[in-house]
Amino acid sequence: MTNDQKLEFLKSHKEKALLGGGEKRIQSQHKKGKLTARERVELLLDPGTFEEIGMLVTHRSSDFGLEKELYLGDGVVTGYGNIEGRLVYVFSQDFTVFGGSLSETHAEKICKIMDLAIKTGAPVIGLNDSGGARIQEGVVSLGGYADIFLRNVQSSGVIPQISAIMGPCAGGAVYSPAMTDFTMMVDHTSYMFVTGPNVVKTVTHEEVTSEELGGAKTHASKSGVTHFTASNEVACIQMIRKLLSYMPQNCEDDAPVYPYESKESEIRNSLANIIPANPNQPYDMRDVIENLVDNDSFMEVHKDFAENIVVGFARLGGRSIGIVANQPAYLAGVLDINSSRKAARFTRFCDAFNIPLLVLVDVPGFLPGTDQEWNGIIVNGAKLLFALSEATVPKVTVITRKAYGGAYDVMNSKHIGADLNFAWPTAEIAVMGPKGAAEIIFKNEISKAENKEAKLQEKVDEYTVTFANPYRAAARGFIDEVIDPKDTRLKLIKGFKMLENKVATMPKKKHGNIPL
Ligand code: HXC
Repeated sequence: MTNDQKLEFLKSHKEKALLGGGEKRIQSQHKKGKLTARERVELLLDPGTFEEIGMLVTHRSSDFGLEKELYLGDGVVTGYGNIEGRLVYVFSQDFTVFGGSLSETHAEKICKIMDLAIKTGAPVIGLNDSGGARIQEGVVSLGGYADIFLRNVQSSGVIPQISAIMGPCAGGAVYSPAMTDFTMMVDHTSYMFVTGPNVVKTVTHEEVTSEELGGAKTHASKSGVTHFTASNEVACIQMIRKLLSYMPQNCEDDAPVYPYESKESEIRNSLANIIPANPNQPYDMRDVIENLVDNDSFMEVHKDFAENIVVGFARLGGRSIGIVANQPAYLAGVLDINSSRKAARFTRFCDAFNIPLLVLVDVPGFLPGTDQEWNGIIVNGAKLLFALSEATVPKVTVITRKAYGGAYDVMNSKHIGADLNFAWPTAEIAVMGPKGAAEIIFKNEISKAENKEAKLQEKVDEYTVTFANPYRAAARGFIDEVIDPKDTRLKLIKGFKMLENKVATMPKKKHGNIPL
């Protein structure tokens, strides 16, 4: 072969690889409203930056006549490129090759880029679209999954890992995305479950569709398995790019700072009008958030799951922060099992990746009831307490209204290590709400009174004046400053700037034992 012929061979070889499982299967993928693995990578990365690794890899299996069915790349496109100029690694499963199923070599390709990502300290993005373990390969394929799982765990807290589910993801395969930091699903074209509808029917006699069992809406609202839902693949990929903009490359790094120039005053008069006069009337904490952070910078995480707490990323003066906020517009902002789990996981991500935390508090307490107690509100509530206590990033709290009972302690109180604690004049910081408190401590007096209702009201008013305010806590220094709501943004910008170089460590240990 001449050198020209050799080059020609290489070219045709690569062209063949670009076709994955062939034109017909590509058409079938498009007909399902799905993009191909390569089209997804092109959309994800800055134009022209993708460098492929392992394009010519083929499987080594010879059972069931597989040796006659070889596809270059073996069902996964892997490599690296840039997102907004920053290095990322990506793997994108190719459903046109054996349904994107995971073979030994397919797994090796994913592991190779995961290893490079750890060594070079850059995020890994997985675009999942796979029929699961390559059935013809048996245990070799299962081993391949486990090799990936181990790397997911080794990477956890070292580099950000993001999973997008863009097709099937079933069986043990779900555990890789579950161990990454964020999962996204595409509405109607993706699903995740450990066992599918047929097995469910056999074992539990329940009739359920794939969509109901493990579609995007189910996992966004019922299980909380997915953090984000996209209406289509393009929206999903744009979401990944946006999400990454709040994060550093790795745990040794800081998140990118976006240019921010204060064009006007940082005073936000609108914040003064959000809290209703009646303390039992709800309001939307998102209105507070939107008024505090840089314009359009709030990206909510887990939007449809455990809506009594709001978590998400935003920028303040161009810098990334993570926000954990009670939501009085949903279940009065009470803490329960799911909201505690949701906020704890988000807190731990922020702490692992040096993203300062802002905690906004309006919480009447923990949700009572047998359902909560029997399902472990004790250990689940403790997750949030543990996560906020162990976080060493800058931590700032603003109590907008209620901070009652144990929930006061949990929601980033001074006592568990918050650096700056602000309260609005509307704050009520006490062991419990005035009515409950008056009924307990003045029980005898009320029962002896001629007009019991009037006596109760008198005692409620007395308790309200004495305790349902921020001043007892401020007198103790548990609150650093009671502030005018309109000054909050300015106070936060200054406060986080002051905390920029915070150094805090926990006692030396292998790892803590968060109540899982
Ligand atoms: C090998 C597979 C495959 C698999 C699909 N294909 N899944 N090949 N191993 N796991 C192939 C098909 O033979 C077909 O090949 C092509 O991919 C497309 O599949 P279709 O069935 O035509 O597509 P569709 O109708 O869209 O259905 C997709 C599907 C279905 C729902 C994913 O293929 C399916 O149920 N597959 C099996 C899923 C499964 O049980 N996997 C194992 C789970 S257990 P041709 O040549 O016709 O294009 C598991 C354990 C992991 O994964 C454990 C980790 C610890």
